[in-house]
Amino acid sequence: MSPSGAAVPPGARGATITGWGTALPDTVVTNADYEARLDTSDAWITERTGIKERRHGGTTAGLSVEAGRAAMAMAGVTGADVDFVILATTSPDYQVPATASQVQDELGIQGGAYDLNAACSGFMYALVQAHGLIAMGLERILVVGAETLSRITDQDDRNTAILFGDGAGAVVVEAVDGPGQLVSFDMGSDGSLRALLEAPIGGYMTMNGKEVFRKAVTVMVDSARNSMAAAGVGPDDIALVVPHQANIRIIDAACSRLGFGAEKLATVLQATGNTSSASVPLALVDALEGGRVRRDDLVLLVGFGAGMSWASAVLRWTGHLPEVAP
Ligand code: UT7
Repeated sequence: MSPSGAAVPPGARGATITGWGTALPDTVVTNADYEARLDTSDAWITERTGIKERRHGGTTAGLSVEAGRAAMAMAGVTGADVDFVILATTSPDYQVPATASQVQDELGIQGGAYDLNAACSGFMYALVQAHGLIAMGLERILVVGAETLSRITDQDDRNTAILFGDGAGAVVVEAVDGPGQLVSFDMGSDGSLRALLEAPIGGYMTMNGKEVFRKAVTVMVDSARNSMAAAGVGPDDIALVVPHQANIRIIDAACSRLGFGAEKLATVLQATGNTSSASVPLALVDALEGGRVRRDDLVLLVGFGAGMSWASAVLRWTGHLPEVAP
């Protein structure tokens, strides 16, 4: 992979996150539930993936609206204040139209709306595009990562069923005077690897798990290094790492190669499984609400997914913070 990290140019009109929200369906599916139906065990799933349970249900639009509404309430804005919706998803409700159309309508947003499919890298792709649109003059953008992967997962296939879950995370990104929150980013794709993880239209996901695992560690390490190099920072400068929540062993392998201790990692996969586009915002929000981010901290987002796509971004946290963080 060639280095492609980019720093946000000085003087570019900046943006910051002013609100966030999440949504998870009510139905909890535990490892014991799979143990009862498939040739698997809680011990195997826990040891090989770190996942204990995941949520199933809802629609991608419904979860997006719930998360988006919470994000807009925290930001203190209504649909009339939001110029654009970008919905990162790999499991839209319809082939046509974009699921973002329904989200826009239900949230009363007037501007543009589209779906973005970069699989598990989608939230970073969407966040960077939102900053680009704000640099071009828009004021406020709702960025959502949402999935209902249980609909495209064969629940009788132990290779995939145990991994994937449903959920959504959303943020409001708003123009600011002066430098914004995004410091640097890196986005890439190697389409020659697309057969490693795929679902035909109307069909279920199939995956070469071992090969995805191997590539995932390499591209996460390379992408994180590209973003940090573009930002002119190293691992010691980063306060929090929010990796794509696919497998705790992938996260541990990539982060130990990068030199990040476990205390810097945000993880929610124990309770959510792999929620693809929703995984980074779910983990980010969990860390924010746990008081793990302080003003001006550097936060590294990094992910990989089907495509094979990858993306990372360094943010200097100038955005909203909950009461618990001084
Ligand atoms: O967002 C990106 C999405 N995808 C990923 O991130 C997937 C990346 N890959 C992985 O997370 C891992 O490769 C898996 C969790 C999918 C599999 O773990 P692994 O340590 O790579 O296991 P493996 O494929 O090497 O399989 C080891 C054994 C095999 O049995 P044999 O051939 O050794 O007898 C599998 O058949 O484990 C078996 N196995 C299972 N056993 C119990 C595979 N799935 C299961 C299962 N329960 N669910």
